[in-house]
Amino acid sequence: MAVIESVIRGFSTAVSPLAEALIEADSREVHAPLRARGNHLPIQKKVPLSRYYTPDYAALEKERLWKKVWQFACREEDIPNVGDRVPYTVGDLSFVILRSGPTEFRAFYNTCLHRGTRLCDGAGSGASLRCPFHAWEWNLDGTLKNIPSRWDFTGVKTSEYSLPEVQVGTWGGFIFINPDPAAPPLERVLGVLPEFFKGCPAEDRFTAFHIRKRVRANWKVTLEAFLESYHVVETHSDSLTFTGDASTQYDIWDDGTAHVSRLITPLAIPSPHLGDEASAAAAVDRAYEVFAMAMPGVPVPKYDPTSPLSGRGQVAEWRRQMLGAGLARDLGAWPDVAMLDSIQYFMFPNFCPWYGEGLPLVYQFLPYGNDPNESWMSVRLTAPLPGGGAPRPPPAPIWELDFDEPFSSKPEIGLLSLIFDQDMSNLPRIQSGIRGAATTRAEATLGRYQEQRIQHFHEVLEKLLGA
Ligand code: FES
Ligand SMILES: [Fe+2]
Repeated sequence: MAVIESVIRGFSTAVSPLAEALIEADSREVHAPLRARGNHLPIQKKVPLSRYYTPDYAALEKERLWKKVWQFACREEDIPNVGDRVPYTVGDLSFVILRSGPTEFRAFYNTCLHRGTRLCDGAGSGASLRCPFHAWEWNLDGTLKNIPSRWDFTGVKTSEYSLPEVQVGTWGGFIFINPDPAAPPLERVLGVLPEFFKGCPAEDRFTAFHIRKRVRANWKVTLEAFLESYHVVETHSDSLTFTGDASTQYDIWDDGTAHVSRLITPLAIPSPHLGDEASAAAAVDRAYEVFAMAMPGVPVPKYDPTSPLSGRGQVAEWRRQMLGAGLARDLGAWPDVAMLDSIQYFMFPNFCPWYGEGLPLVYQFLPYGNDPNESWMSVRLTAPLPGGGAPRPPPAPIWELDFDEPFSSKPEIGLLSLIFDQDMSNLPRIQSGIRGAATTRAEATLGRYQEQRIQHFHEVLEKLLGA
C-alpha cells in the first residue's frame, strides 16, 4: 500500500477532476467496489519486444499459458439449448464447448480420435458430436457413441475412446475453460470480480452485438492497446473534448492466484490535456451527442446552466431515463459513474468485462492460428435483460471482420466503430515497428501509473512462463 501512495495517480485540472473526485461527487450512492482501490503495484521493468513475435515465445505461451490457465471462452447464451456447441480456438489449439445438459457445460479437445479431424468448425447443434470425415461419433458427455464399420476397429475399446475433456467453469453467464486438470477452481482466479459485479450482474445481460476481428498484430499487442487510456490524447484526439483520459483511475488486485485490474475513465468532462480553460459545458454537450448516436431520432439535450445538477449529473439523469424507458427497468438508483464512465476490468489472460452502462462491452483477445504476428479480438456490446417478464433476447450473431475490414463496415455500432478503427490503425504499425527495432533498444518502456496494467500483465506472464 505504501508503495502505491508514492506514485502520482493521474493528472487533473480545475475543470477536469480525477476519477476518484468525480466518484466522491456522484449524485447517487456509488456502488462500494467503485470506491475500492487496488492492493498491488507491479515492479517497474522494461518489456523485451521479442516476446511479441518470436515463434519460440509463442510456443512457450501455448504450453505454459494457454494449456494451464483459466481463460474466457464464450457466453452461456451462445449455446442456449442442450446439444448446442461452439469452437473455442486459441492459436492452433481448439476446444469444443457444448451445453451437455440444461445447466451443464463441457469442453473437449476439438480433435477426432480417429485421424485427427477438427470436430467442430462453427456454431452447431445436435444430440452428438460427429466427425465429418468418417462419422465417428461421441455423446454429449464425451463418451464414444458409434464407429462406422466397428468390426474393423477390434482394438478400439469404447471405454478408452472418450474425448479428452478440459475443465469448465462459469461466472456471470461467461464460460471459462482450463485444459490443466490440476488447476485450482475458477473461483480462485476470478478474484474480486464476483463481489465487484454484484451491483451490475453480468448474468442479467445479453449480447446486443458481437464482432470478431482478425488483427495483424500479436495478441498481446492487441490486448495492451485496450488496457490504458494514455493513448487517447494522440490516437483518439477527437474525443478529448469529452473524455477525462488523464483523469483515469487504475487499480490492480492480485493475491498471487487471481490477477485482476481495472480502469475508470470519466466521460462528460474535458481532457485535462486541454487545460484549465477547457469548456465543461461543451464536454457535456458532446457527451449528450455521443450517447445519442446509439438512439437515432431521439432529441439531443444541451447543458442546462440553471439545473441544480452538475453537468455530469444532467447527462447521467437523461441516460437513466432513456435507458430505463427502453428497457422497462428502473435505473433511478444507479450512480452517475456507472451511467457515464468507461469502467473496464481485466482478468488475466484474455478477458475484459466492462461494468455499468457507460460503455457496456466485453473484450476477448486470442492468438490467431500459429503466426505470432496475428490475433483475434472479439468485442461484444451487452445490454441488461428487458424487465417486465420479457423473454431473454437471443444473442446477436457474430460479425466476422477480416484483417482489412474496418469496424466502420458495421455502421450500426455508431461512434464506437470509428474509435475501434482508430485503435486498429495502430496495431499493424506497432507489430512491424517491434519487429524492426534496434537490437540495442528492443524493449518497451511503460508509464508508472497509466500503463501499470500492462506491466502487471507481463509480471504474471513472466512468472507463468518462467522466462
Ligand atoms: S478422422 Fe474423424 S472419423 Fe475419421
Ligand atoms: Fe483506444
